Amino acid sequence: MSRNSLNAKMFQTLKQKMAEGLLPQWVVTDPEIYVLEIDKIFGHTWQFLAHESELKEPGSYVTRWMVNDPVLLVKTNSGEFKAYLNSCTHRGTHLCTADFGKKKTFTCPYHGWSFNLEGDLIGIVAGDKVYGQEMKKDQWSLRPIPRIGIYQGMIFGNLDPNAMPLEDYLGDMKWYFDILLGRSDGGMEVRGVPQRWVAQANWKMTFENFAADPYHVQTTHRSTVEMGISPKDPLYAGYGHQVVLGHGHGINVITSATGRSAYAFQGMPESMWPMFERNLSPEQFEILSKTTVFVGGVFPNLSFVSPVHGTEGHLHNYLNFRLWRPLGPDKIEIWCWFMIDKAAPEEYKEEAYKGYIGSFGPSGTLEQDDTEIWARMVQASKGIMARDKTLSYNNVCNYLMGFDRVEPDETFPGPGIAYPTCYLDSLSRSIHEYWLELLTRDLPIDGGKNANELEITIPN
Ligand code: FES
Ligand SMILES: [Fe+2]
Repeated sequence: MSRNSLNAKMFQTLKQKMAEGLLPQWVVTDPEIYVLEIDKIFGHTWQFLAHESELKEPGSYVTRWMVNDPVLLVKTNSGEFKAYLNSCTHRGTHLCTADFGKKKTFTCPYHGWSFNLEGDLIGIVAGDKVYGQEMKKDQWSLRPIPRIGIYQGMIFGNLDPNAMPLEDYLGDMKWYFDILLGRSDGGMEVRGVPQRWVAQANWKMTFENFAADPYHVQTTHRSTVEMGISPKDPLYAGYGHQVVLGHGHGINVITSATGRSAYAFQGMPESMWPMFERNLSPEQFEILSKTTVFVGGVFPNLSFVSPVHGTEGHLHNYLNFRLWRPLGPDKIEIWCWFMIDKAAPEEYKEEAYKGYIGSFGPSGTLEQDDTEIWARMVQASKGIMARDKTLSYNNVCNYLMGFDRVEPDETFPGPGIAYPTCYLDSLSRSIHEYWLELLTRDLPIDGGKNANELEITIPN
């Protein structure tokens, strides 16, 4: 543990600025804030691991990361999902080095210890001869990830054994997940494998971009307007509702100027509509019928977008989940899943996949637009002026859109606090609040007469 330059006074100032709708720019890539984030946020919140369709049969496995903890997720012979630290209990190297596959046992590439799907150590090379009979194999099982939870096929892990249950953490997001993931018989399926690439960006800013910032669409993605794919109306991504869901989660339910989408059920084949009606409540069905784009996030680092692409007669919808894995204050690994209704016609799925690759895949046009902006945000946050914590340069970012001006729309049929526009910073402010709450949970930032002197101890 080390002492550092953060102190309670700074957090008090931060809290006060945030209450005014402002976010000091130094927090974006501050290295000490980053260390606290990994420990206090990622060490205690639910992080997405995989969709169950990625592990079809007993023995199927994928390897994933919970920031710096390598994870081996397997489907056992009884059909249960189990997650282990992907680190051999002998000397700690990665037990499994492949991204995915199917196995009955995992053999470590270093000295050859082997483990079954239940995580038991079942084989030691020359075991009896080198360790003798007294070696107790059951003490050297794989270390389980403390908590695992599943909702609508989405498998999450949590490194905190005392964390609240996944369903409580997701809260009202479950209602929207039911629309996105539970509308079709058989649910959704991941097509292909998650693509991943490294980008210069900060995880908070990318999360916020997807969860809470439809306002950027008409400028950052201007080329889509120029190509005639998006409407010319500069308000077009603002129509609909921004819904604040608590725990830093939220969703934008984007419609159009008429309050309905130009494309019923996001352009999905009409043959699927009765199935949606069967699987959803009347309120969920109504929202699905008139929404153009759903875009939102599960704090801290899972985002999603469910758009409409294509032209009349060739419209398609898909669900893109993306995980922003922090690699440092200014670097992330982006993991990107393409999901589609299992029950959709095969030809439709293929067309939708192509639409995804051209837009939100690593080489997609929309993706490139955002990535450049994110890189410049972290670059600008590292200068002397931006890093000045006394705020003498007034180096704060503006989160004042709709501040104290927009009232919730009580007639919105879904749960959460729904505001009647998506051009709004309410969700961003709620994300920041939860971020600060977790970051400072054990710190006396609200009181104590010696708060100015109180230094924050952060783990190395
Ligand atoms: S580190 Fe795995 S067998 Fe030695
Ligand atoms: Fe974007």
